[in-house]
Formats: sequence, structure tokens, C-alpha cells
Amino acid sequence: MLAPLQPVPQFAPRTVRIAASPAAVLRRRARELRAAGRDVIELSSGDLDFATPVHVVAAAAEAARRGETRYTNVDGMPELKDAVRAAFRRQNGLAFAPEEIIVTAGSTQALFEALFATLARGDEVIVPTPCWMPYIEQVRLADGTPVRLPCAQNNGFRLRPDELAAAITPRTRWVVINNPVNPTGVVYPAEELTAIAEVLRAHPHVWVLADGLYEHIVFDGRRAPTIVEVAPWLKRRVLTVGGVAKSYAMMGWRVGWAAGPAALVREMAKIQSQTTSCASSISQAAALAALTGPQEILAERAAVLQERRDAFVALLDACEGLMCTAPDGTFYLFASCAGVIGKRAPDGREIATDRDFAPTCSTASTSRSCPARTSGCRPMCG
Ligand SMILES: Cc1ncc(COP(=O)(O)O)c(C=O)c1O
Repeated sequence: MLAPLQPVPQFAPRTVRIAASPAAVLRRRARELRAAGRDVIELSSGDLDFATPVHVVAAAAEAARRGETRYTNVDGMPELKDAVRAAFRRQNGLAFAPEEIIVTAGSTQALFEALFATLARGDEVIVPTPCWMPYIEQVRLADGTPVRLPCAQNNGFRLRPDELAAAITPRTRWVVINNPVNPTGVVYPAEELTAIAEVLRAHPHVWVLADGLYEHIVFDGRRAPTIVEVAPWLKRRVLTVGGVAKSYAMMGWRVGWAAGPAALVREMAKIQSQTTSCASSISQAAALAALTGPQEILAERAAVLQERRDAFVALLDACEGLMCTAPDGTFYLFASCAGVIGKRAPDGREIATDRDFAPTCSTASTSRSCPARTSGCRPMCG
């Protein structure tokens, strides 16, 4: 007998038009290969191999034991919101009121809520590229139109104010300013951010989504200011997003935040109240310990990542056909394989594009001959 026909699910256009995160796909594949006994160095996703600080883990365990296992306020525990406000004051000299802060399940959720709360069909969001890809897909998911603004390699992948000015239209709602930038490692100093802010003076309808998730991972004595710091006059048009994921190696705890105009924060909280209710209470207790505990760890870990950057840049530059510009922050290398295009892989396949090169590379990185192994150097990320 024939099995009964299964109804074909109808998916909404908004989900059909977005792609799954390639990093998440690769992460899963690496785990499958590892489970099958393969020796894999996974460099595909933004996971650090540092442990979450011991006092942070202890604070989470104590919170659970104390029974802090209920829903918190939608916009976060008041103590954590105060700690976020204190961090903005300490690090950026910025004062935010409690109603200008929302705690979210990772900064990913804060970014999405802001876009979902503000975009109508056809509204444009300028995203300087290369970029962290979820910006593009989140804009699409929120019915907006992502406008990629390529930042040229010969300008060090930096956003140029004149090019930003040329990309703005009457439909532009947001421009994303990620500092430091994933994946290029660009760090914008105050002068460059000021010049970018000046462009927006003439366009009062354009807001800034300022993503500072890697603010503490900067090298060679640099600082990555956030745009409100250098252009306080812009504050009522900026949502400043951050989180504990990268600074405190708390990727899986899922705590982030956003600071901006109270009316926007209220709309974001409305979305949160109807979707996830609040960030995990235990993770919020952990984030509170991270923000209020010893902060020396931030500089110590940045120094370790700087050493790894130096080692990896040297290793990569020693590979024929590959090159990269040393990143000033983050823990990524944005490498060019232009030098191998048109050549043949060891298995005889022609390398016509960077996508052809990637499978060759991932085979190499599972082998004992990967430079990361032979040098005894530890990979930059988990
Ligand atoms: C630039 C950037 N922004 C935001 C995020 C989201 O981080 P989370 O949701 O873990 O806070 C990431 C994660 O890799 C990122 O690279």
C-alpha cells in the first residue's frame, strides 16, 4: 500500500529568500567529521578557544543554586542593565538611562530586533562589505533591502566617507558601522569615524547600527571607539550594540545588549516579549559577573590573540599564492587566494575561483601538513 501523501509545507517568502549561515553549516560539518574520527582544525566560525573565566562560571552556578531560574524583566535584569551602563561610562564615557538599554540573547538578537522594529518593505540598509553576513540576511528577513557597499582592498577594506555619501538614498534607514570589523580586522580610529559621522549630518533620516562586539580585541595599542563617542550630536540616531561573547569568551551563553533612543528600545522589547521573553536568567547572572569582575583579562587575552595574529600572518604569507593584510583587531584573517587562481590543486582540479580553492584548503587543514600544525602554533579560533 502506498504511504499517505505528506502535506507539502508552505514556507513564507521571508524565510525562503534567506540563506542558512554558512559558518553554522561548516561548524556542524566539522563536528560530524570529528565525531567520525577525523582530526579537524575548525576555523570557520567565530568561536574562541579560551575558557569562560572561572568566576563567571561560578556566578552562574551560584545563581542557579539560589533559584534565579525564573523569567527576568523582558529588557533584562536591572542589575545587569546597570552594569552595562557602567561599562559604557567606564569604557566610552557615555551615559545611558535604564530605559535606553535592552539585554538580549546575544547581540545577534539586538541587531535583528532593531531591524525588525524599523524596516518596511523596500527600506534600505547600507552594509559596508566585506561584512559579517547575518547583517544582510537579517535585513532581508525584516523585509528590507540590503545595500552592499564594497570597501576596496586597495583602501585597506576601509569605508570611505565619499562612497557612503553616494550610497545614501531617500529610502536609506540604517548604515551598519562595525568596529572592529569582522572579517577584515579593520579598526576605525576616532578621526575616520568622525568623517563617517559628518556624512550623516546632511541625512537626518539615516540611523547608525554601531556594532562593537569586538571592541576589546584590538592590537598594537589601538582603541576602537564607538561612533556616539566621537559624534555625540548623533546619539539620538544611533543604536550601539555589544555583548559578552567575544570579550569574555562567552559565545554560547548568549548575552548581548543594545543602547539607544528609549522609543526604539521599547519597540525592540515589544518584539522580545512576544518571541523569547528574555535572555536566560543564568546567563544574565554570568554576564553580570563578567562586567563587574576583574577586567585585566580583556587586555591579557587581546595580547595572546595579537601573538597568534603575528604567527598566522607570517605562516600565511609563507604560503605561495596566499596573502593577507595583518588585522588591527578581531581574531580573523581575511586572506586573498588571488595568487592561486588559474593553478591546479594537488588532485589536478583547476582552481578557477576562491570557492574552488576552499575545498582544497579544508582538506589541507585536516592533514598533518597544515602549517598550523607543523609550526606547533595554536589556531586563532576554536
Ligand atoms: C560582527 C559581529 N556582530 C555580532 C555578532 C553576534 O554575536 P553574539 O550574538 O554572539 O553576541 C557576531 C558574531 O560572530 C559578529 O561577528
